[in-house]
Amino acid sequence: MSMLSIGGSALLLVPRNGLFVERDILRPIRRAPATLVGMCGIVGYVGNSSRRADAGHSALDVVLEGLRRLEYRGYDSAGVAVVADGTIAARKKSGKLTNLLAELESDPLPTSLTGIGHTRWATHGGPTDQNAHPHLADGGRLAMIHNGIIENFAELKQELLEKGVTFTSETDTEVAAALLGDIFRNQLNGESSNLTKAMQLACQRLEGAFTLLAVHADQPDVVVAARRNSPLVVGLGEGENFLGSDVSGFIDHTRRAVELGQDQIVTITADSVEITDFFGAPAQGKEYHVDWDPASAEKGGFSSFMEKEIHDQPDAVAQTLLGRSDLNGQLTLSELRIDPELLKKVDKIIVLACGTAAYAGLVAKYAIENWCRIPTEVELAHEFRYRDPIVDAKTLVVSISQSGETMDTLMAVRYAREQGAKTISICNTNGSTIPRESDAVLYTHAGPEIAVASTKAFLAQITAAYLLGLYLAQLRGNIFSGQIKDVLADLGKVPAKIQEILDGAGPLRELARSMKDEKSVLFLGRHVGFPVALEGALKLKEIAYIHAEGFAAGELKHGPIALIDEGQPVFVVVPSPRGRDSLHAKVVSNIQEIRARGARTLVIAEEGDETVRAYAEHVFYVPQTPTLLMPLLTTVPLQIFAAELAKAKGYDVDQPRNLAKSVTVE
Ligand code: G6P
Repeated sequence: MSMLSIGGSALLLVPRNGLFVERDILRPIRRAPATLVGMCGIVGYVGNSSRRADAGHSALDVVLEGLRRLEYRGYDSAGVAVVADGTIAARKKSGKLTNLLAELESDPLPTSLTGIGHTRWATHGGPTDQNAHPHLADGGRLAMIHNGIIENFAELKQELLEKGVTFTSETDTEVAAALLGDIFRNQLNGESSNLTKAMQLACQRLEGAFTLLAVHADQPDVVVAARRNSPLVVGLGEGENFLGSDVSGFIDHTRRAVELGQDQIVTITADSVEITDFFGAPAQGKEYHVDWDPASAEKGGFSSFMEKEIHDQPDAVAQTLLGRSDLNGQLTLSELRIDPELLKKVDKIIVLACGTAAYAGLVAKYAIENWCRIPTEVELAHEFRYRDPIVDAKTLVVSISQSGETMDTLMAVRYAREQGAKTISICNTNGSTIPRESDAVLYTHAGPEIAVASTKAFLAQITAAYLLGLYLAQLRGNIFSGQIKDVLADLGKVPAKIQEILDGAGPLRELARSMKDEKSVLFLGRHVGFPVALEGALKLKEIAYIHAEGFAAGELKHGPIALIDEGQPVFVVVPSPRGRDSLHAKVVSNIQEIRARGARTLVIAEEGDETVRAYAEHVFYVPQTPTLLMPLLTTVPLQIFAAELAKAKGYDVDQPRNLAKSVTVE
């Protein structure tokens, strides 16, 4: 362990290889409560006056910019608080961030160097102005924002009511704020005006999962934050420091970030960052460099982040492949620091994920079983640990998560580790919780994904899963090195092929616009086309609110065909007609069966497949590629279709109703 100076203060850092988190692994695993946990966006900032004069950084500007970037985490209300002129000034508003901006326009806040901000996804109390954060306490001199749920809030509230504290909202956050205020004012015994100490004492009383940020008018130059089972990162600046739910909260200002561990408290001033545990003992963080470019978190001229992210896909796949094989076409996943001998002994793989990431897992199953001959199960993370799964030291658990914060997936990974499994995380977010709590991580390099509906992360996840499958096959000698080289060469050609699909999407967009009043769309696929059909249906549900179902084409005759009626639109993902054991003919028969019953058939097929034309109302061709890699191409038209249709309906493509990007909900 070494002591480094960061931003002028002492911070304990653990030298690590960047993949393993010794401290978290050795520590007893704290079970997160089986409960709802909010998934709000949080920002904190402290700067000094010279910094502000140089760069025009007022706390409010920095906090609002961070909230704008974090709004994907939750968007049913937003609020800010700044410390200025010896008081706290706060504004909060239900609805999207624009409502808060309008409020600030009509009722501006004073200039300040210390501030906090919050964008909410309601769990406790409806999305009203009153329930929005920040919540004030200590006679309005303390402001707090919160992500999570305080499980023992009722008991604490009763205690505080008996002391004469009054409450104005239905939230658990206000109770935590009141507790902190009471401790700060009445219980510090000679350590008055020590918000850090008060936060330590408050956290000792709080149960549940939370990230808390607080400011106090008596300590105008400080933001204090605490973390238990909920995300929080520190951003290190020059003469200013930041806090965020993730790095997008401060990416405009610094690329230097510090990971915090569980049950830690961090106190930032303009020139210092100090970390302790809940009992005041000095604790460690780990500094890392954020390689996201702030510009990559902007829309870049597209009408939505989702459109932009769909167009980022050639790059997302290319970046995920980059540097992972040598000149001889051998895979070099040196970052997978799990003893190769252990990986050779693996007799079962379980892929755990939720939502789109779970469909990436389904694609991975076809590839991993084919290349490695290891039985591979794919399970929704929230189902996994509640069914007493068979997991032991020979089980390799591969979790897939864009955010690295999905609570269901995190809990499943923790459970698997407790049972002795080795865990590898496929993740897009550096320093997030799931990779930190896994034995190893294979990062997807898709860059920040802002739109709630996942697109580029999905293709990057599939790409990373292919690399993992090939690596295991290489290690275990399941396939010849020439074959690995060939697959890698085919993967290398995928980005240009995705670009071709993007460039030729005009007719598909036109079709999407013409279908904006459809009530239901079905999706059929077979083999690797099956998860693609599921993903196509999910995209349409998520952002266009149209009833959509994905089916395995072979299952059609066992039930879903009863849904087919005159004019029912059905997307069919047709396998390649090339190859000996092609399923092409069977899927073409399925198309005929549904057409005969009145379906409108919208077909995704491989270039050169002329046979499907006769049976399709519309055919959208994708370039040829080996069957197992096909999802990297066939998914793209379905993403474009959903995005274009949702846009035609006038919906907010990036922030669909009822959803949030990072679901820290169990
Ligand atoms: C949410 C998002 C989905 C995402 C899923 C898993 O439900 O709306 O787009 O696929 O979470 O998220 P993760 O970050 O674990 O990949």
